[in-house]
Amino acid sequence: MKTIIEPFRIKSVEPIRLTSRPERERMLAEVGYNLFGLHSDDVLIDLLTDSGTGAMSSHQWAAVMRGDESYAGSPSFTRFEAAVKNLMPFKHVIPTHQGRAAEAILFSIFGGAGKCIPSNTHFDTTRGNIEASGAQGDDLVIAEGKDPQSLHPFKGNMDLDKLEAYLQEHGDAVPVVMLTITNNAGGGQPVSLENIRGVAALAHRFGKPFIIDGCRFAENAWFIKCREEGQADRTIPEIVRDCFAVADGMTMSAKKDAFGNIGGWLALNDDDLAEQARGHLIRTEGFVTYGGLAGRDLDALAQGLSEIVEEDYLRYRIRTNEYIVERLDAMGIPVVKPAGGHAVFIDARAWLDHIPPLQYPGQALAVALYEIAGIRSCEIGTAMFGRQPDGSEKPAAMDLVRLAFPRRTYTQSHADYIVEAFEEVVAAKDSLRGYKIVKEPKLMRHFTCRFEKL
Ligand code: F0G
Repeated sequence: MKTIIEPFRIKSVEPIRLTSRPERERMLAEVGYNLFGLHSDDVLIDLLTDSGTGAMSSHQWAAVMRGDESYAGSPSFTRFEAAVKNLMPFKHVIPTHQGRAAEAILFSIFGGAGKCIPSNTHFDTTRGNIEASGAQGDDLVIAEGKDPQSLHPFKGNMDLDKLEAYLQEHGDAVPVVMLTITNNAGGGQPVSLENIRGVAALAHRFGKPFIIDGCRFAENAWFIKCREEGQADRTIPEIVRDCFAVADGMTMSAKKDAFGNIGGWLALNDDDLAEQARGHLIRTEGFVTYGGLAGRDLDALAQGLSEIVEEDYLRYRIRTNEYIVERLDAMGIPVVKPAGGHAVFIDARAWLDHIPPLQYPGQALAVALYEIAGIRSCEIGTAMFGRQPDGSEKPAAMDLVRLAFPRRTYTQSHADYIVEAFEEVVAAKDSLRGYKIVKEPKLMRHFTCRFEKL
């Protein structure tokens, strides 16, 4: 059979409330055209993020009931730790309430004024934690990773020449080398096993620990299996183990590739570093066997980790993205290609080229998708990054719109509905107008600012 079906059936459903276009127009005006201001039950298909929004399986819900809420030494932690170590062979596994908490602990150890931390592309919260410590984060992704039309199979790869030059130039100021798999900020693009090993070898040659941000490790492993020479016949757990075997630690948001609604961890091999991290954990998150989580969360994650590496799931997961990218591409919409793991990225600046970057073409597209079809997406462009520390404003590097897919939550008919919504946007494209920001907070304005239609 050629049809790739959702490899699950539905036992419990969550109703979607259908809204009319006039209703959506009214709600948009009320929230100042900022989609973060909407109530989620006024959204038909919510593609704001793939983080914590996935559906748990019946086995995960059963695991929730097994959760043991003891303060110390809970068997839920033992099961969680074993599930992590089965895939990521690190000596110390430290649970946290989500990925950014693991980052905060990591950079309380490695950060500090004058330090420089390279990665392919740091995710916002990683960069935020690095900068909050006084250090600086630098992105050294390969050139193809910044070209939306390049068909390079591993556009998340680190540029190894740049990394070597960076390590030579910054020397002792580099406390750690990082790598994000998949590269979320760069379009959910994968990193090859060869590149992971190359980064590890370089870091180690310069005496630096190598830490992987592994949020979407299973999606990354699927791409390695499908695209990297010599990997096709290997299992996903084998590939995952190889990826992490060369690292000295990892940070993880279990809200992505562990099928959790909440959770994360920091893993390390070094005993002294782990002791420091646990000290910080106890001060900020909780005791070492629960971090910021309930025992039931730990059990749900342990089960989720065994499900996320199933090939039938990963095939269906990645296919949904590819399907939408193929359809949008055929309509002439500039999409980031090839399709990434967790999201479809649209180049709104290229598509809505009648709207200048400082009138937020990404926001115009995101608002149109909600107005026309009730779909919530996310602008990743000038509204998000345009305000400079000196108060001036300039266009971001790109104006993208991200449609991020919650795991196991939507079906093929939702995918077809999304495609149809874009057909309507194509028809309305030339009439779409830009926006101006009429009220904004000092920091991270995109979450709460208000826009007006121009
Ligand atoms: N690293 C990456 C690559 C991420 O994508 C995220 C979260 C984090 C770290 C932080 O994890 O949310 O558990 O604290 N990304 C979400 C997103 C929020 O929508 O892309 P967290």
